[in-house]
Amino acid sequence: MKTDGGSDAAKRRAGERAAEAVEDGMVVGLGTGSTTAYAIEAIGRAVDDGLEVRGIPTSYQSRRLAIDVGIPLTALDEVDAVDLAIDGADQVAGGDLIKGGGAAHAREKLVDSAADRFLVVADPSKLVDRLERPVPVEVLPDARPVVERRVRDAGGEPHLRAAERKDGPVVTDNGNLVLDCAFGEIDDPGDLSARLSAIPGVVEHGLFVDLADATYVGTTDGVDVHRY
Ligand code: 5RP
Repeated sequence: MKTDGGSDAAKRRAGERAAEAVEDGMVVGLGTGSTTAYAIEAIGRAVDDGLEVRGIPTSYQSRRLAIDVGIPLTALDEVDAVDLAIDGADQVAGGDLIKGGGAAHAREKLVDSAADRFLVVADPSKLVDRLERPVPVEVLPDARPVVERRVRDAGGEPHLRAAERKDGPVVTDNGNLVLDCAFGEIDDPGDLSARLSAIPGVVEHGLFVDLADATYVGTTDGVDVHRY
């Protein structure tokens, strides 16, 4: 479930500023979505100018874009460390995020959390005082009814994410389904994160608690950087 709105100019400013943090020799996690795409394109231009980096994509989308703009790719099992990750978010409350609007949150969390530094890129429409969007939960297809019951027990209302230009559900890059789980305002993201992670059949959920090191928010005339 993607967010509506947010200006492309603000997304571009955020993405391009975060890309300036990429230095020669780095291994860089490449997030997913329209804001991160601006960062990936900027890194591609820097590679054209001689920057030596290797990227680890988090989705089919970011892999394809990285290849198109000429970023050499690697994988988590081929590197000792990830220096930096740049990724978008659907909602940002301080350093806590809801991600998974593009159903890529399982690989995003893996790569973003493996990075020494994780920079979030966003436009102001993503900023909130308290997280309240439905939380995307990737589930093994067979586990769907079981997970739905457990989400209701935890006070949430799950909705199977439907594909838009295909009959039936969204199927993730990992071959799984996504339940968008509405909890209303989330008082304690850490507690909910732990509860969702504990449900058998849940592959990963889109609450990113205390993972971000900084948020780059594009504005009408610049970029606000918040460090955590
Ligand atoms: C994909 C994500 C994206 O980072 C999130 O949806 C933000 O995307 P955009 O920059 O296009 O608004 O979590 O799973």
